Amino acid sequence: MSMLTRRRLLSRAALSATAGATGAGLRVGGTAATAAVSGGLATGCDAGTDPDTDPTDGPRGDLRFPTGFRWGAATSAYQVEGATKEDGRGESVWDTFSRTPGRTRNGDTGDIAADHYHRYADDLDLMRDLGLRSYRFSISWPRIQPDGTGTPNQRGLDFYRRLVDGLHERGISPMATLFHWDLPQTLQDAGGWENRDTAYRFAEYAELLYRGLGDRIPVWLTINEPKTVVQNGYLHGHHAPGFQDPQAAYLVAHHLQLGHGLAVEALRATGSDARIGPALNLHPCYPADDSAEADRASRLYDGYENRLYLDSILKGSYPADVLADLGPDSRMARGIRDGDLKIISAPIDLLAVQYYTPYYVTATGDTVTRWPTSQADWQQIYPDGMYDILTRVTRDYGPVPLTVTENGLPQADTLSADGTVDDSGRISFLRDHMAAAHRAVTDGVPLESYHVWSLLDNFEWAEGYDQRWGLIYVDYPTQRRVPKRSALWYREVIRANGL
Ligand code: FCB
Repeated sequence: MSMLTRRRLLSRAALSATAGATGAGLRVGGTAATAAVSGGLATGCDAGTDPDTDPTDGPRGDLRFPTGFRWGAATSAYQVEGATKEDGRGESVWDTFSRTPGRTRNGDTGDIAADHYHRYADDLDLMRDLGLRSYRFSISWPRIQPDGTGTPNQRGLDFYRRLVDGLHERGISPMATLFHWDLPQTLQDAGGWENRDTAYRFAEYAELLYRGLGDRIPVWLTINEPKTVVQNGYLHGHHAPGFQDPQAAYLVAHHLQLGHGLAVEALRATGSDARIGPALNLHPCYPADDSAEADRASRLYDGYENRLYLDSILKGSYPADVLADLGPDSRMARGIRDGDLKIISAPIDLLAVQYYTPYYVTATGDTVTRWPTSQADWQQIYPDGMYDILTRVTRDYGPVPLTVTENGLPQADTLSADGTVDDSGRISFLRDHMAAAHRAVTDGVPLESYHVWSLLDNFEWAEGYDQRWGLIYVDYPTQRRVPKRSALWYREVIRANGL
């Protein structure tokens, strides 16, 4: 394995890294929202400043999205649900990891999180008030199969059935992610994603869900950000299961993708007409300077960041440069069996893209920071990256329907004495990224929906509760919800179907 591969230790550094300046460099609008209310979205954005100069004002109607475009928001099970010991739920790797001293900031865990498991009905009302057309959530594997195999836990299925029914009642389309990192601990004990068998267990679990909930779920996403499991879970060790083992990491990459393909095949086998695709975090990679070496290095970097997942799923082959860099004796290379890539490239109906940050790669394969970072120091704020990645996918992989399933900004939001949360930095961020997405649509990208990360403040993995990513503020001691100014702004975007 090359030096370059070993050096790739940047993405989403946690704990060890000192947090970047909050919202540095963001344009911040002038006025506070009139009143963000708890339990409803009764108020609108306060105008009061010149629309030509205040980027946080409501939409001006210049950038309209296609009719039928779906605006949404996203969450994941472990990050919002809490209730980790209820109704027969088993343990997941994130329970184990977050309860291990030193693994998460302040020792935070998802035990309570945003208590969404109990408060989902109120949260559904907030979604309705926001005008959401799509809600992307994930299903907790250990709620459905506490030990990762066998008969489904009916109480787990019932929770998601209630959630999904509640969405339909409010005119919101459910988009369910099958796996957002909370692997049942028993499967981890048997080798986790290093064990090829886990991919088959995943397909069985998927089939239980298709049979249990499939009649009500029009869009399934298979695996959330396999790359983050690979890099954070197995290269840096910042995420569960917390290993630093490059050989294991890329074998895991293969097995995650095998699991994806098997889950796609399992859906087709049920005869369902639901749609399915992967959820990939894609990062535009640019050379940091004009040298041929930086160009070469950024190309390989792109291989590890993007093509390792896109080529396999959409072209049926792993990128040759990445395979060569890993070497013929890597555990990944030895783990690929005849027929695997055919399974992995089973036709998908849509590709979910998650965009947060670009990378700038030097001649030596290191990365440098070009743009202001957010509270998450791995995130450079670069809206044009959204345009670049969406148009690149369409250009290189054909007109597969796209959905943006995550895009957002963390801030250390505070609830002010008048009961409002002024997160105008988030409004600027979202507006600029939505405008970039609009530009991509204008240039022919078949983008059908956009989901803000996140609906609610939640457990941000190793960063615990310090980073707030929600449109809706969660006052953790009381679990009161307060729509932030960005939520009120987003409601107007949805209403106008544009900016
Ligand atoms: C993505 C994850 C999501 C959340 C955001 C900030 O990588 O999929 O769960 O943590 O980052």
